[in-house]
Amino acid sequence: MNSLLIHNIGLLAGVREHSQVLKRVGLKELPALTDAWLLINDGRIAAYGTAHPTHLPDTYRRLDAHGAVILPAWCDSHTHLVFAGYREGEFVDKLQGMTYAEIAARGGGILKSARLLGETPEDVLYENAKERLDECIRLGTGAIEIKSGYGLTVEGELKMLRVIRRLKENAPIPVKATFLGAHAVPDAYKDNRNGYIDLIIDQALPQIAGQKLADFIDVFCEEGFFTPEETIKICRAGQAHGLTPKIHANQLHRSGGVQAGIAVTALSVDHLETMGKEEVDALKSSDTIATALPGAAFFLRMGYPPARDIINANIALALASDYNPGSCPSGNMNLVVSLACIQMKLLPQEAINAATLNGAYAMGLGHDVGSITPGKRANLIFMRPIPSLAFLPYAFGTNCIDRVMVNGEFLES
Ligand code: NIG
Ligand code: FE
Repeated sequence: MNSLLIHNIGLLAGVREHSQVLKRVGLKELPALTDAWLLINDGRIAAYGTAHPTHLPDTYRRLDAHGAVILPAWCDSHTHLVFAGYREGEFVDKLQGMTYAEIAARGGGILKSARLLGETPEDVLYENAKERLDECIRLGTGAIEIKSGYGLTVEGELKMLRVIRRLKENAPIPVKATFLGAHAVPDAYKDNRNGYIDLIIDQALPQIAGQKLADFIDVFCEEGFFTPEETIKICRAGQAHGLTPKIHANQLHRSGGVQAGIAVTALSVDHLETMGKEEVDALKSSDTIATALPGAAFFLRMGYPPARDIINANIALALASDYNPGSCPSGNMNLVVSLACIQMKLLPQEAINAATLNGAYAMGLGHDVGSITPGKRANLIFMRPIPSLAFLPYAFGTNCIDRVMVNGEFLES
């Protein structure tokens, strides 16, 4: 067995003998040990304690943490990091007054990304996505979900999902794949949206399921994209193929996405920039996780999800990046945690829990990552000397990470 004993840890945060999705008071508590040690066996957490571990054999490989603060790595449950080109031109258009919806309506936005993706060879897509993924891991992400949705043809979607599968096979961290064929109605179907929905259900889904290319199914439930009824229909078809729904809901309008997600027992409803009491009440009586993507709200200069109302309603809240070329060209979860505190008034402990353990549950990885729990992967962030955990969201934009450990091994720097 390959054993590593890390000792002299200043603060070991997110220590939990057992883990479960966190709500309300649970979300506020980030259990931590001071002056701690951590034993890792074969890349997984085996034991922890305080002071000096005198009962453990001297033969273990030892690592002095020199008083570092250690956290579970970030769990980013919502990204679109496979894409073919950046859209900084649209960014400038927006600075000059155009809205996200106007850009989409003139064939920009998602449809532009789809055109670029069609022209880009699979290997190039893979290499570019791998670079982005490696950067996310260096920034402390220890598990990630990646969506398709820029193919918008059967072949294009399969191509994206094959790229995600290659990332899954080669990345050191767990990767979950989501089929987002219903991201936008492509130009070729603009007068025949039902035809496109049939294509997703009758052509794409059976192939995707047959080749086991996806874990989840997603729909962009939004005015001008897909209606709640269409969302439910597509999700049910996905469920019949064994895919669990995760929905893009209530980003630009209160368009019924949250209720559609609940109707199909979605694992999560994501975005939630436009929420009313009705949506919060609907979520209350479900097990669906509410995922806020504050990077997208920031970049699009929108209102933020009502995180405090969500937490007070006893709904599980997760945080994710939404890394994509249109609404959040950053996969930096450290910044996401800062934005959650600064803009949604989450407490540092709440934001860290939402970006680790609840993020893990929001992609079906609660058993594997997100906390310092025996049996889970030793995917950890070693912080530079920081005075307290609150420093992390407070010093926004500052890289507080010293080193990142994945499966018990430090990334090569
Ligand atoms: O989550 N809102 C829908 N999809 C992405 C944006 C995709 C894009 O603009 O390329 C999002 O924000
Ligand atoms: Fe998204």
